[in-house]
Amino acid sequence: MKVADDILHSLASAAVDGPRLVLAGPRMDPKLYGRINEVLEAVGGRWTKQAGAHVFPVDAAEAVAPVLATGEVVTLREKRNDAQYFPTPAAVVDRLLAAADLRPDMEVLEPSAGSGAIASAAAARGAVVDCIERDPGYAAVLADTGAARTVRVADFLTVAPEPVYDRVVMNPPFTRGADVEHVQHALRFLKPDGLLVAVMSQAVSYQKGAAAAFRNLVEQRGGQAEMLPEKAFAESGTGVGTILVAIPATRSAAVRPLVWPTHEQPVSGPEDFGDPAAIAREIVDSLRKATAAFDAVARALERAQQRAAPKPVVTDLPVSAGPHGQPTLFDLLDEAS
Ligand SMILES: C[S@@+](CC[C@H](N)C(=O)[O-])C[C@H]1O[C@@H](n2cnc3c(N)ncnc32)[C@H](O)[C@@H]1O
Repeated sequence: MKVADDILHSLASAAVDGPRLVLAGPRMDPKLYGRINEVLEAVGGRWTKQAGAHVFPVDAAEAVAPVLATGEVVTLREKRNDAQYFPTPAAVVDRLLAAADLRPDMEVLEPSAGSGAIASAAAARGAVVDCIERDPGYAAVLADTGAARTVRVADFLTVAPEPVYDRVVMNPPFTRGADVEHVQHALRFLKPDGLLVAVMSQAVSYQKGAAAAFRNLVEQRGGQAEMLPEKAFAESGTGVGTILVAIPATRSAAVRPLVWPTHEQPVSGPEDFGDPAAIAREIVDSLRKATAAFDAVARALERAQQRAAPKPVVTDLPVSAGPHGQPTLFDLLDEAS
């Protein structure tokens, strides 16, 4: 959003000292403070009573500089609507951490940590979690929780790998194959007996090119893949198809061969259709019942019609003798004239 001039003026005149920023002047109008706070939070600042200042995970002047230079900021609200930030729903986090076989005191890396949906749950299970997140706003929200041992604001793809982690757990960005790139880089952070578990786009299970090369790598390492439910990320505002991929740092002796899962409907086998002779008997029975029902209705209608029909008027005709004693037509005509 465009940042209003009064906010830019307040930011420019704030006192900064390393990670601390103190707004200048007397106590300000709460509405103006709310608007400034939204901008400071967007670039990673958090009001900290103890410090009497907004404290940033990076140098405060560095965090605010782009806002002063451009007069624009992407607020946390706007970022949440941005397709790149999809916090992992609790059910997926549980599944991911179960697949990671996470144990207390394990050293864990979350390299695209957002505001910590996965990292906080891993820490709650006793893991020691280091986080990397490119966005200072989300990083600050995560740092506030106190769940992580460290929170580093950085582009993960530029972080030099060190093979020191028991586990890497992650839900990286997906656009244009970014998930494959992130996971491949993250594998370099594992100890030789380490394991990486990532939420990835379903596209990695069928696309060509980099995704196909990635599938080879997973298979060579003896990795596993599991399709997540179709609406797994609905509560985070996306219907994107996702898959859980687990990749060990080193291939172990006994590995199950990997069959990449799909969401295709299973093809019905002949047993689903039942015995054809039994089905034919069922059809004949149904037809018989239907015919009997139609007959019953037709008879009922006929009876009703008969009851409603006007009674014929019966005239007693005069009787005179014909050749056999019955009245002749002439007798009748005479009588009528
Ligand atoms: C799909 S969200 C997942 C957030 C978090 N992992 C979770 O599960 O809730 C992807 C996150 O990766 C961050 N991100 C994108 N590119 C990054 C990069 N190059 N380095 C570090 N973080 C990055 C985004 O800011 C966003 O917070």
